[in-house]
Amino acid sequence: MLLLASLCVASLVSVQALDNGLALTPPMGWLDWERFRCNVDCENFPNDCIREELFMQMADIIASEGYRDAGYEYVNIDDCWPAEERDANGRLQPDPDRFPSGIPALAKYIHGKGLKIGIYQDFGVKTCDGYPGSEFYMSVDAQTFADWQIDYVKFDGCNSDVRDFDEGYTVMSRFLNLTGRPMVFSCEWPDYQTRQGIEPNYTAIRSACNLWRNHDDIQDSWQSLLGIINFYGEDTYNFSSYAGPGGWNDPDMVIVGDFGLSYDQQRVQMAMWAIMASPMLMSVDLRHIRPESKALLQNRNVLSINQDPMGIQGKRIMEITPNQPPRADPVQIWTRPISPKGTFAVAFLNPSERGMPSTVSVVVDDLGLTNGSGYNVTETFDGVSMGTVKPGQNITISVNPEGVYLFTATPL
Ligand code: GLA
Repeated sequence: MLLLASLCVASLVSVQALDNGLALTPPMGWLDWERFRCNVDCENFPNDCIREELFMQMADIIASEGYRDAGYEYVNIDDCWPAEERDANGRLQPDPDRFPSGIPALAKYIHGKGLKIGIYQDFGVKTCDGYPGSEFYMSVDAQTFADWQIDYVKFDGCNSDVRDFDEGYTVMSRFLNLTGRPMVFSCEWPDYQTRQGIEPNYTAIRSACNLWRNHDDIQDSWQSLLGIINFYGEDTYNFSSYAGPGGWNDPDMVIVGDFGLSYDQQRVQMAMWAIMASPMLMSVDLRHIRPESKALLQNRNVLSINQDPMGIQGKRIMEITPNQPPRADPVQIWTRPISPKGTFAVAFLNPSERGMPSTVSVVVDDLGLTNGSGYNVTETFDGVSMGTVKPGQNITISVNPEGVYLFTATPL
């Protein structure tokens, strides 16, 4: 019954999704911001500054080192790409020193690798880092992006009045559609509203955007990652129910392979982004990445949960305080209905730093697993069978500190 109820919600909201035929599963790709920021000093940082070579090199690696085959598709440019001024016709132009070939040439290069290209703009007068924004130029900017063969537009909300968002983001969405070029539309609309205590109109957001950020920027730390996961666990305004094919909540970039997370913490991000049906935009230097991080980013079992075609976002369903170790934080249990029908992905997340794994037991019925003939249970990261369980039985999981245990339960 519970499952049926969530399916109904998903199909109800999906009719109201942005009608551009895109993002039927959460978008996957690469985005420079978290790792490369607004480094425009190409003289001193030739390999790490925001310039066309960076995106070409990432596209090369995504295509040649298995990321494209695993599903990563978009190569996205964030802030700090434009010149300080618009051109004589009021059109945006890239910084001439850092993008000397121009964006259409970069788009052609990325398309030639079998990939797609994304770009960044801002609803306000200036972007967050002070480059020309779209206020008063939304129509011309939408057309410029279409002319440049852009496939994905991230639209930020700095330097603007948040009270204009409900109308403004909707108008930009319409301008993008009017160009006739399908472009994924990534919004920061609810993020800025939530920060100001305004309840976002998620119905309107879903009908204008393919994905929407609703919480703080991710930083390269466990604290930042856990803060976002807890925000999604609290699920204020029940925002999780608005996710579905065509429109997704966006908890921000994937920082697996960067500097701040341990191996177990990186597994947490992979598992939770899968459970939360989150866009997978890697922000990592793919030229220098440890093999174990690369393997996590390409883990097919985890990605197939992330990309499940039903597109139902998972929820935190309970928290259990373990008997061991003493004084450990509660283990969070999250579930997500996935295909085939009746199957669940389940994550036990241990946010505690208390040194030894936390062990918890739960009756399988309490996870929503009520199929009378039971379930096949498979650990996800390594694809190892854990045997079968039936309603009425207990399932006992031991989960590393600041770690996760992810499994699927498929009805027998
Ligand atoms: C905001 C956004 C980030 C990034 C920066 C760029 O902070 O939330 O994702 O785009 O702006 O300046």
